[in-house]
Amino acid sequence: MIRGAACFRKLFQSSAVSSKVAAKCYTAQAAVQPAIYSSDEESADIDWDNLGFNLMQTDYMYMTKCSDDGVFRKGQLNRYGNINLSPSAGVLNYGQGLFEGTKAYRRDDGRVFLFRPEQNAIRMQIGAERMCMPSPTTDQFVNAVKQTALANKRWIPPSGKGSLYIRPLLIGTGPILGLSPAPEYTFLVYACPVGNYFKQGTAPLNLYVEEDVHRASRGGAGGVKSITNYAPVLKAMKNAKANGYSDVLYLDAVNKKYIEEVSSCNIFLVKGNVLSTPIAKGTILEGITRKSIMDIAHDLGYTVEERLIEADELISADEVFCTGTAVGVAPVGSITYKGQRIEYKISSDLSCKQFYSRLVGIQRGVIKDERDWIVEIE
Ligand code: COI
Repeated sequence: MIRGAACFRKLFQSSAVSSKVAAKCYTAQAAVQPAIYSSDEESADIDWDNLGFNLMQTDYMYMTKCSDDGVFRKGQLNRYGNINLSPSAGVLNYGQGLFEGTKAYRRDDGRVFLFRPEQNAIRMQIGAERMCMPSPTTDQFVNAVKQTALANKRWIPPSGKGSLYIRPLLIGTGPILGLSPAPEYTFLVYACPVGNYFKQGTAPLNLYVEEDVHRASRGGAGGVKSITNYAPVLKAMKNAKANGYSDVLYLDAVNKKYIEEVSSCNIFLVKGNVLSTPIAKGTILEGITRKSIMDIAHDLGYTVEERLIEADELISADEVFCTGTAVGVAPVGSITYKGQRIEYKISSDLSCKQFYSRLVGIQRGVIKDERDWIVEIE
């Protein structure tokens, strides 16, 4: 029988480990204080060249709770595994939950960096206020993200092969029957190595403009990263994917004519020297990649506009692309709207490729990080 940390390491060297075996090891390990993997820890035994966006069990997750006082206690790393929830937990019954997504990158010299993690912390705080939840401070949040990345360091892909996607969750875990805020909250962070988000890899996206299903409406929670924004788009997405599209582009719920966002990312149009993106007024998630690309485009001399964009304008755009933490920067090859397929030329001199290579350059340390976007994990 394999025991102790060696047992855990051995079992998790392969992503093909059955969950039964993993659960057994988790039980055996639960009382053991997790050892943080050191920088010379051997890399996880996975195929780094073929990472998609698929869940893989890593070693550790971070967890902390808070109750009535609204203050999150000092958290700790636990083995990655299932969590106990009351059937009447607020998150299960009333969807009181938020999530975030950020990434840790490994550079050629082995050093590991995060990209603007404090922005995720702030977005979680804004979302928590909307959803009537307490939230971790920016320091607690960033520290939890760093600890999770470090503890799972052997799962961070080699430079250029992908990244460690880090998923912070804030959920109402206290039991509640009547509709009301939960009496207890959990802040949890787990991580998973990822490559391309879309199954087609880096191939241009084919989007479908959905006219009947709306993602968000004014006064709702579309502007925050509430878990409740995601299940309602699954049906439209599933239909679009069954018809060969990569994802769905949603329209505003009032006029049904302004583009808003895609299920998993924000959208941009380029026409000449002007970069336009739908204005965020509560129905669009203010992506951190979205914000960063706007700054980069501005630095490169583009005029950047946040405004109402009619779907009819899609036809005259030179270029369309999507942005998101999971998605990165993805060029759009076609958009189907009212039965008409609009095709976009894909070439090596697309503006989005320029923006993306600048973003990646900053993340990899080959372009000066003038705005202090990069945070090293030591
Ligand atoms: C992200 O980009 O981090 C997201 O949360 C999008 C999600 C649909 C994967």
